[in-house]
Amino acid sequence: MPDSKPTRNLGLELVRVTEAGALGAARLMGRGDKEAGDQAAVDAMRLILNSIDMDGVIVIGEGEKDEAPMLFNGEHVGRGVPPEVDIAVDPVEGTTPLAEGRTNSIATVAIAPRGTMYDPGPFLYMDKIAVGPACKGVVDIEAPVADNLRAIAKALDKREEDVTVVILDRPRHKDLIAEIRAYGARIRLISDGDVAGSLMACLPETGIDVLMGIGGTPEGVLSACAMRALGGELQGKLYPRNDDELHRGIDMGYDFQKVLCLDDLVSSNDVFFAATGITDGELLQGVKYLSHGARTDSLVMRGLTGTIRQIVATHQFDKLELISGDRY
Ligand code: FBP
Repeated sequence: MPDSKPTRNLGLELVRVTEAGALGAARLMGRGDKEAGDQAAVDAMRLILNSIDMDGVIVIGEGEKDEAPMLFNGEHVGRGVPPEVDIAVDPVEGTTPLAEGRTNSIATVAIAPRGTMYDPGPFLYMDKIAVGPACKGVVDIEAPVADNLRAIAKALDKREEDVTVVILDRPRHKDLIAEIRAYGARIRLISDGDVAGSLMACLPETGIDVLMGIGGTPEGVLSACAMRALGGELQGKLYPRNDDELHRGIDMGYDFQKVLCLDDLVSSNDVFFAATGITDGELLQGVKYLSHGARTDSLVMRGLTGTIRQIVATHQFDKLELISGDRY
């Protein structure tokens, strides 16, 4: 008989981290300043992360890529008491949409037991395919695009031309887009935010069936953590931007041919994931400012149980200011 006592759900504490990040960053929407938005989210998230009873090490921070203010890799966060955990954090996943006042910017963080998250080193890009639970086991990142689309249509019992692929709108995806068009499936191009894209592929109400293409490596690990709860599948392959990066990676022991499965990206099911909308998106509403407060929209997931919570919270600035002494 398993021990059925309920255990602590760190996700419910993590959502305060992403809410704080979103509240900090959202005020800078449309100001044209990527770094200021990131900095506001980082500062707010670090404050709450450090209030949580855990001994956390940031394995996936995102500062280096943007040379932005970071929750840097190797930084210790939390109150330094058990559990020992790895942390993946992207304070503003979608710095450009935030700076430009466009859609799909979110604050996100994930936690897994120490030593279970993939460390991509300095390699920033990953080719990915992500699908929902119904398509688990039917796709292969190394297979021709048409084969994957056919398999997805079959698994979802959909017409082939109704399968919808979400892809980052980047010149590097010219051939991929041409192949999908030649096959005859639908394409949803997004300007940024492939964590949201991967999650959307798992949630039938979004109308998205699969994410394909090359995005950030940190975003791959964060998405894999969410997949643990969503029951979907994500496969990735590190993508070198040039020969220099390829050779440097090989010297460091990275294998760019290896298909990284969920177990490689996060090897435990005991994972917590939280995300809060900064700007409006298909996955989450952005922060809405009210008289003397704001409303946030978040998702919280737990890998162990598969529980997914949507949390809409209202925040009262006067009360928060009284407690913290900070201006909200
Ligand atoms: P940021 O969090 O750095 O703003 O990333 C946004 C994003 O669109 C990610 O969702 C995606 O994985 C990555 O950038 C793609 O990188 P690039 O913009 O260099 O193509």
